[in-house]
Amino acid sequence: MGSVAVKPLALITGASSGIGRAIALRLSRDGYRVLIHFHSGEEGARATLDAVTSAGGEGELIRFDVKDSSSIEAALEKTLEGRPIAALVNNAGIHEDTLAGLMTDESFDRVMRTNAYGAFYLMRYCVRKMIRARAGTIVNVASLAGQTGNAGQMNYAASKAALIAMTKTLAMEVGSRGIRVNAVSPGFIETPMLDDPQLKERLAELVKRVPLGRVGKSEEVAGAVSFLCSADAGYVTGHTLSVNGGLFPS
Ligand code: NAI
Repeated sequence: MGSVAVKPLALITGASSGIGRAIALRLSRDGYRVLIHFHSGEEGARATLDAVTSAGGEGELIRFDVKDSSSIEAALEKTLEGRPIAALVNNAGIHEDTLAGLMTDESFDRVMRTNAYGAFYLMRYCVRKMIRARAGTIVNVASLAGQTGNAGQMNYAASKAALIAMTKTLAMEVGSRGIRVNAVSPGFIETPMLDDPQLKERLAELVKRVPLGRVGKSEEVAGAVSFLCSADAGYVTGHTLSVNGGLFPS
């Protein structure tokens, strides 16, 4: 009797909707068993898992709040049961937009804690495991706002700039162990995040500035993540790959 091949594990945070769901689907198609993370969106996470299994892939659900480092570690220890993590995609994120003069301490704190601290906790946990395995790859989902700044998004832009800086730093620290760390930086992507009424109003105007003349698709971000996780990107680390229709040529 032939042995059944064990698929490498990929953890995708915030995979109950939008870009995270597309990444989970794509990485499962690439041959990973996907750990579909959610916090409040259990129904959405189940829908992601259904889509993965209907397409012939394998996955499982995991719940934690990315802002809470002890709950991250407890949930992962229980779910992993000693299995190595081959890929981590830090995708969970929020935005709370307002002008800097009106931004509260709580709002700045919440966005930084979710987008930057959360990714830090997960990278710290996973990289320890990856160093032991001398293998692994990490992709952080940043944002154009983190590269250029964006009026009304001081907290969000700061959190995403931090994510890009952490990507470069960790890549330098763990390259010698065979671990690659990269980021993707989406522009305007059609997801529930763009349903924000404030953003919707401005979107038609913003799209006029996009050289490709349209918003992007979650699948197009997922394709970039897939490349960065793959052996084709074997000599790519510390890089931030823009997926923005040419809005900010880099
Ligand atoms: P989304 O709102 O559908 O996804 C965000 C995910 O993060 C959700 O699944 C949500 O449950 C999860 N999340 C939020 N707070 C959490 C917490 N405390 N603990 C655990 N999970 C939490 O939005 P979208 O657009 O799919 O965003 C995914 C990533 O892409 C985010 O990091 C976002 O900043 C980034 N992005 C999105 C762009 C867009 O145009 N949609 C542009 C640039 C970056």
